[in-house]
Amino acid sequence: MKRLTVPDILARKGDTPLVVLTAYTAPMARILDPLVDILLVGDSLGMVVYGMESTLGVSVEMMARHGRAVAKEAKHALTVVDLPFGSYQESPAQAFATAARIMNETGCQAVKLEGGIEMSDTINFLVERGVPVMGHVGLMPQRVHAMGGYKYQGRNEEGAENILRDAQSVQDAGAFSIVMEGVKESVARDITSKLRVPTIGIGASPACDGQVLVIDDMLGMGGYIPSFVKSYAHISQVIEQAVKTYGEEVKNRTFPSAEYCFPYKKK
Ligand code: KIV
Repeated sequence: MKRLTVPDILARKGDTPLVVLTAYTAPMARILDPLVDILLVGDSLGMVVYGMESTLGVSVEMMARHGRAVAKEAKHALTVVDLPFGSYQESPAQAFATAARIMNETGCQAVKLEGGIEMSDTINFLVERGVPVMGHVGLMPQRVHAMGGYKYQGRNEEGAENILRDAQSVQDAGAFSIVMEGVKESVARDITSKLRVPTIGIGASPACDGQVLVIDDMLGMGGYIPSFVKSYAHISQVIEQAVKTYGEEVKNRTFPSAEYCFPYKKK
């Protein structure tokens, strides 16, 4: 299977929708890699893997460690790693230093950062120096406190125009695709039709050029599930059942049975 490149992703604009999922670990990346177009090592790992209340406490070290685990397993999907809060907003130079470190240490093909028109100089600085950038507009989780919560964005005409302006400036700065989070269908449709680069929606309707979900949410791993997420499985129930059975077998000494004792006689 051929590895997808940044130009391949760009060429999918208006074509078959892009399939994107987050991944944070090597075993999950191995399963997802042949099935998706993009593996996103999102800073959502702070909440999903580390149990944080928001993504704000995620460090560059965490992103580098998980990014490396995922990129090492990705033979087909394009691997994109999030730049965490505080590691790129100060200046284009700070953003380049962080992005270069993430790309060096992980082997990923691109980075993602949140922001609109105010981040366009930074995006342009990165892109001109060879760092492919995925943008992220609309609901930006790193701004949860400034936004007063995880709220749908672009609810009125002015809000919708601001998101369009943000998306256009991120595109014009050189981003190769843009995550659009938490916007209604009419806004997503309008922006998608006006951009040359693919939009990747999350809570943003099917009007986008692709969709992304947090893997643990769509697998039903438990915990809070946002209302725009469809659970395609209930893995937490499978785990609970397996662990209950294991516990019972340990207590009644039916595990380990003869085939799991040395010398092994597995069939
Ligand atoms: O951090 C993340 O996982 C993300 C996606 C949900 C878009 O930004």
